[in-house]
Amino acid sequence: MAILGVNIDHVATLRQARRTYEPDPVWAAALAELGGADGITLHLREDRRHIQDRDLEILRRTVTVKLNLEMACNQEILEIACRVRPDQATLVPERREEVTTEGGLDVVGNFARVSEVVKTLRDHGVSVSLFLDPEACQIEAAAKLEADAVELHTGRYALAKPGPQRDQELAALVTAGSLVRSAGMTLHAGHGLNYQNVRPIVAIPEMHELNIGHSIVARAVMVGFQQAVREMKELVSHAYPS
Ligand code: PXP
Repeated sequence: MAILGVNIDHVATLRQARRTYEPDPVWAAALAELGGADGITLHLREDRRHIQDRDLEILRRTVTVKLNLEMACNQEILEIACRVRPDQATLVPERREEVTTEGGLDVVGNFARVSEVVKTLRDHGVSVSLFLDPEACQIEAAAKLEADAVELHTGRYALAKPGPQRDQELAALVTAGSLVRSAGMTLHAGHGLNYQNVRPIVAIPEMHELNIGHSIVARAVMVGFQQAVREMKELVSHAYPS
């Protein structure tokens, strides 16, 4: 059984579409906790396209479950993380032009910088997870850095058609998962997981944490839409004294 980290970035995406105050990811985090979330995950991006600094500050004070900050190895964000001290930081690559985090972190190619960021975070009491493609060389590099956890990027699995292609991607995740565990790190996974494809990922031996965002926010819009319309219909169906 894995624990569920609910990524609330896309509640903020909807708010930022109007640069207004709603929907508030802080409210969403509270509702996620009521729904049973074991963790709240958010990504403070360099370009602040969804989550804002204020969200992180408030969530640090209000979230009662694990707070997981996704972040790039960027100096400004590192300083914020060291001050706010989430329970966990998940290091991800970040490119301005990407729609979402498109690949895993290249620990092999950026060993010195990632090592420095891991050490700084750990010195500030923040546990560190590295978001990696299911590749042996990256996992071995993460182990050398003594990362606490590896979050396997499930994006390729999620995009693969059910059948041999998806089975192959799943097998790669299972193999990578066993490497992560045998190196003594905790096993996490996430990206692109939804109500249809999550079960085989939960079944990977010793899977500890799944971080899921877009599909939960998408479903929340659908399951809540009817009630939201009903409430507005009620308001417009009566003439209220002003
Ligand atoms: N894990 C990591 C490291 C991510 O970058 C993301 C996307 O922000 C997720 C999990 C959640 O992915 P999704 O929104 O597709 O569920």
